[in-house]
Amino acid sequence: MADPEANATGDSIDAEMVRYYAARADEYDDWYLRLGRYSHGAVRDRAWRSDLAAAQSWLDGLSFRGRIAELAAGTGWWSPTLAAKGDLTLYDAASEPLALAARRVEAAGLAAQTKVRDAWAEPDRVVDGLFTGFWLSHIDPGRLDRFFELAARWLASDGIFAFIDSRADPDSGAQDHRPPEQGVQVRKLNDGTSFRVLKVFHEPETLRAALQRGGFAEIEISTTDRFFILGSARRR
Ligand SMILES: C[S@@+](CC[C@H](N)C(=O)[O-])C[C@H]1O[C@@H](n2cnc3c(N)ncnc32)[C@H](O)[C@@H]1O
Repeated sequence: MADPEANATGDSIDAEMVRYYAARADEYDDWYLRLGRYSHGAVRDRAWRSDLAAAQSWLDGLSFRGRIAELAAGTGWWSPTLAAKGDLTLYDAASEPLALAARRVEAAGLAAQTKVRDAWAEPDRVVDGLFTGFWLSHIDPGRLDRFFELAARWLASDGIFAFIDSRADPDSGAQDHRPPEQGVQVRKLNDGTSFRVLKVFHEPETLRAALQRGGFAEIEISTTDRFFILGSARRR
């Protein structure tokens, strides 16, 4: 799986991933919006938008309420939906995307607290709902159990963990990105700068088994037609 060794600049791949998302903040939403290098032509982009709408309506219907934490929240694409459901705190290791997330929530007339914080740090509060978007695919399979144990520690008894993540599809990423090799993908910014990220397309059954081992019940995992995997589970 992923090479945990430091690269030539002395960065671990985890640190490189944070630097990548900090530098990508202003162009991150191009991926959602199918702009520039993220467009794959009208027909494929229509399929993407249809899946995105399906993910949005799944999240709309999710029974989150009370205290909600979103880890690795990035630019906050999903955050207004969560902020409308409860008292939301957004966390990310990079301040640049988090600033955009705060602006997005505010523009929607909603409120959220923001904190620059590593997703692997111990919880700083107990919540009723914990959400991650496109974070599980940045965790290599050997660390999934550790993450779900951490997720359980975030949650009050009966609290809900929910996620949206990526399925492997050639039309998901940028045109100039190659598929991950052994869980590591090289990503480029619009200016051509490249970074390594962990990217693992976990199968629903892998996630289900790991959630079960982490003490979760009522595990519901589904997929959209092509691009996304959606899941929720209740802490026992
Ligand atoms: C693929 S983006 C997902 C953004 C957002 N959740 C979404 O659904 O659009 C991954 C995010 O993880 C953040 N990240 C990377 N490593 C992290 C870490 N160790 N702790 C917290 N956030 C991290 C990045 O800064 C980035 O914003």
